[in-house]
Order: sequence, then C-alpha cells, then structure tokens
Amino acid sequence: ADLLIRSSGGNVTTSIMYGLMHEDINNSGDGGIYAELIRNRAFQGSSKFPSSLESWSSINYATLTLKKLATPLSPALPNSLNVAAGTAGTKPDPKKTKIGFANTGYWGMDVKVQNYTGSFFVRGGFEGAFTASLQSAITGEVFGSVEVPGTQSVKDGWVQRNFTLVPARAAPSSNNSFAVTFDPAGIREGSSLDFNLISMFPPTYKDRPNGMRIDIMEALAKLNPKFLRLPGGNMLEGNTIDTYWKWNETIGPLKNRPGMAGVWKYQLTTGMGLVEYMHWCDDLNLEPIVAVWGGLSLDGAYTPKSAINTVVQYALDEIEFLTGAAATTKWGAVRASILGHDRPWRVKYVEIGNEDWLAGRPTAFDSYKQYRFQAFQTAFAQKYPDIQLIASPSVFDGMTIPAPAAGDYHPYLTPDEFVAQFNKFDRLSKNNLTFIGEAATVHANGGKGWDGNLMPNPWWAGSVAEAIFLLGAERNADRIIGATYAPGLRNLNRWQWGMTLMQHAADPALTTLSTSWHVWRLLGNHVITKTSPVTHTSKAFSIGPLYYVAGTGEKGTNIVKLAVYNATEPVQVSLQFESKNDAKPKAARATLTVLTGPKDPYAVNDSFTRVNVVNETMSALTADEKGLFKFSLPPLSVAVFETGGE
Ligand code: AHR
Repeated sequence: ADLLIRSSGGNVTTSIMYGLMHEDINNSGDGGIYAELIRNRAFQGSSKFPSSLESWSSINYATLTLKKLATPLSPALPNSLNVAAGTAGTKPDPKKTKIGFANTGYWGMDVKVQNYTGSFFVRGGFEGAFTASLQSAITGEVFGSVEVPGTQSVKDGWVQRNFTLVPARAAPSSNNSFAVTFDPAGIREGSSLDFNLISMFPPTYKDRPNGMRIDIMEALAKLNPKFLRLPGGNMLEGNTIDTYWKWNETIGPLKNRPGMAGVWKYQLTTGMGLVEYMHWCDDLNLEPIVAVWGGLSLDGAYTPKSAINTVVQYALDEIEFLTGAAATTKWGAVRASILGHDRPWRVKYVEIGNEDWLAGRPTAFDSYKQYRFQAFQTAFAQKYPDIQLIASPSVFDGMTIPAPAAGDYHPYLTPDEFVAQFNKFDRLSKNNLTFIGEAATVHANGGKGWDGNLMPNPWWAGSVAEAIFLLGAERNADRIIGATYAPGLRNLNRWQWGMTLMQHAADPALTTLSTSWHVWRLLGNHVITKTSPVTHTSKAFSIGPLYYVAGTGEKGTNIVKLAVYNATEPVQVSLQFESKNDAKPKAARATLTVLTGPKDPYAVNDSFTRVNVVNETMSALTADEKGLFKFSLPPLSVAVFETGGE
C-alpha cells in the first residue's frame, strides 16, 4: 500500500477522543476501583437484595444477629449487627476471652505492611477496648492488630471508633479477613453490642479518603484518557421506575447513603457516589460526561409527560450541585456545606438517560423522541446554554437528534461488524455530532448474537477490530466527541460481562490488562489534534486489509495509525508525506510501534496464566532518498507511526 499523507485539508479533531466509562457492573465499583475492603459493611438491603449477614462470620461462638433497631445509626442505614456471647450449645471457648465478628471482604483482602484506615460505629454500654485485626482466613495467623478504645461507647447512642492498623508483616496470599473482637465482660447493661458501618481502606490513589484503588487507577491513567462517562449504563436507569441511581443519595457522609439495588445482580453501597466520580475526574484530569436520569427504567417503564418536569428539575439540581456557586445557589451551598467543596466543578457535557432506544421499545423510545428529550433540551438551553447535551440514542438508532445535541452510539459487535464500520462515520453530517459512549467486541464472527452468551474475555482479533473501528472514528473526529470501551473493569470473582479493559481481584498481582487495554492504550497515547487526508496512490482508496488515519499530533509530530485485518500475508506499507515542492520529506526519521498477537486470533490475556499475548515492538525508521518510509505490518496488527517532531 502506498500512502501519501497530504499537507493540507483535514479537520481539527475533538480534544477528548479517548476516555472511560464507569458503572458498577462486574463488581467494578464495590469490590473494584472503590478501595473499601469490607464487604456488606452496613448491611444495606433493598426489596431486590434483602439485608443480610453475607460475608460476616462469628468469632468464638459469638451470636450475630441482624437487627432493625428503634434507634438505628441513621435513617439511611436502618440495619445493624448485634453481637452477643454464645448461648447454650455455642458457649465461647473458655481459653479465649474475646468474642467478635469477621469479614472476608470482596473475596479476600490484600495485606501489606501499610496503613489501613478504618472505623466502625458501636452502640451499647461498654468498658474496655476492641481489637481490630487482619489475619489469614485459612490459618488464623494474625498479620496485624490494633486496640481501639471502647470506653466512650454508650448505651443508647452510636459512637464512631476510628483506627489505623499497620500489619507487622505482609500476608502470603489475599485469602485474609478482618475482625473486630472484644471481651464480653466489658458490656455494661444488657448482654450485647450493636455495630454498623464497619469500614476499612488501604492507601488510596492520591490519598483520598473514601478513595480509589491505586493499581487500578494507575492502569487507567496509562490509557491517557480524556473523559469519564458516569454513572452508566444500565445502573443509571435502575431496574424499576423508582430505583434509578439517585444522585442525592450518593453524596455526603457514608452513614447518609442508603445504597441501591444494583441492576447487575448485587446490592450497591453507593460509597462511590457522584462526588467520588468527580474526584476521579480531578485526579486523572478527565472531562466529566455526566449522565442524568432521563425517566426510563430497565423494565421499560417511563415517566409520563405530566410528570417529566420533576425529572428535569432533578437533573438541573444535580448539575447545580456540581457547578453552582456556593454563595448564590441552593445546591452549590449544599455542596459547600456537606463537602467543604466551595469551588464548583465545571461540566461541559451532560447525557440525558441511557439507551432510551432499548428498554420498553417502541413506546418508551417514542416518549423520549416526543417529549422526554425535548423537555430536558428546553430546560438546559435556558439554564445551562453552554452545556453540550447528548441524547442517549444516536442517529444510527432511529432518532433524529435535534441539533445542537449529540447522540450516543453503543456498538457491541463481532470483529467483522466492527471492521465493516470503518467508514461508518464518513457519512456523519456536521449536525450529527456523535459520542461513542460504549463499545466492545462481544461475539465471535458467526457466533450467536444477543441470544447467546457473550465471549468470556476480550480476544486479540476482536481488539484489532475495535482498533479499526476507532481509526474510522478518528478519521471523522470533528464530528465524534470521543469513544470509550465498556464495561471497563471486571472482578474475577463475580462478573456479568466478560468484556473488559482490566480484570482484578483482591490480590493486585491478579490485575490483568486485556488485549483491548493494550490496543486502546496505544491509540490513546498518540493524540491527533488535526487529521490529514491520505491518498492511496497505487489504486483508488480501498478499504482493507490495511486501515489507517493520519494527522498532526499535539507537539506537531506527524502521526499515522494503522491496523491490518483479514490478511494472510504481511502488508507492505510505503508512506510518504506530501511536501509542497516535492523536494524533501518533512522528516527523515520516525518511530514505528507495532502490536501483534500470537497465531491464535482468539488468544486472551488471562489473570491466572499471567501471560500477556500482546507483543509490542518499537523500531526506528529512516526515509529513503525519495522520502518514502517503508515497512511491513503483520496480519492482525495495530501500529502507530510517528515522526519525532523534527
Ligand atoms: O456495558 C454494559 C451495558 O451495555 C450497559 O450498562 C448498557 O448501557 C449497555 O446495554
């Protein structure tokens, strides 16, 4: 293939081409990026997932009972754990004076010699000290413990006890648990104590209290993301019309957060709430793309026209909470008072709902087209005219998106389907600004569609196909707001979708970067700010087996991103930069980075074999006397060519 990169023409691109999307699926929030170690820390429940003692166990025959007390810790957290010495038949071991309770975390806990910052609330008259400890769940070996004074515990009030636990040694595996024990002889009045909101964090990213897991944030940062679409996804919609993600119930002290029935088969703590998402944006310098609830739930129910203004007002309040001045707006004042966060955040993008073309179609979709989206558009135009609105369907989903709003396209496809979409966006008009808020290869070519299972892992050929789709998006990046993979994270112990950028477990050594992570990382780290037209000189522009996009980089470099699909032999590439007088090449030296996989196109990056199937090579290229850069790219490869900015 002979490619001539033109010196004029092209388009200025979006400044946020690659980003992230997050909702709590696959225990990617609780048990994932949210660093809380204690699972079921506040016995939260819902009609879908009733409150339980899941992941708690008794120490030394203590009787553990879930209680709904007349004086709960807070209206948001009505359930608590009652702990009493064992009764007949379950008498405490007389050699051990202490009783208590243990938690096995999100399938284990990583124990290192580092600070663990924790707290719990206790209710009941008690004299003495509690012991908080980390130990092996197999042998009981204690790696570290700390005494937590208990003397201020009082009969009818809840008292918060804080502690810092520093293990004396690291545990050999993550099969560990956390325990609180105490001598029941210290109980004054009655024979039991009540506990709630038992929480413990390891060091977090940028040391944020209630913060994020360091290794996961670091791996995300390496993708060089520019935005975060939050908080979903199906999670935003909720299962039923009254169980959507309620932003106002995810803010403030943890004891005021009731949690919610997750849509992915588990209860959510919402410890990772709206503000934590914004901190994530702050810490990775990401543009927030805030999705507000649009009045649709996953069961297909939707808000009638007569009530839509209430839903719109709820969204306006959310944006005011984030962006309003502390001194002059109601919700800005709330932000400042409960968070001490005087400085408003800046929000440039707001998405209305999630996939409103899908659940409850056709009537729910009709309601979106007929009045729901319009109600938001009118209100936002008035109150936040500078915010770019995004409709949750795209122009490809059967909705005419009223400009200046953009649409959101979610391709979950086979590799062949992705490759066939390389030129899909060439037809987008200037009025069809499109966001790719979720994308991933989910089925093998010829595999079952949505009636069958999704693939259990991203695989190499699928990741190459995603690259080709993305090159097509980059060619049109004046009409594309940005693109993100979804779902981005997946806990190895419980997941609903196999597709992921990263797999994780309690043990950070098991954190695995998928084949797609490698591809999206390469593309995301070579930012094209202006595209350059490319002429295919040997024949009229043809599509495949080589796919490409060219442009100018942030530092004035020339960048060409390429991918090869459906080839049996390496593709020979000869690449030339147009120079006005055809005399000299613009640059004589370049770097070529190539990602390849093994022979098996279905190869995956597996957390247990720890083998990375993606091979990355980097080579220096020199142009010949005619200014041609010549190189070859293997079948199923993704490459970035970049001149050194000479
Ligand atoms: O990414 C998984 C799900 O796929 C999202 O929650 C939803 O928006 C889409 O259907």
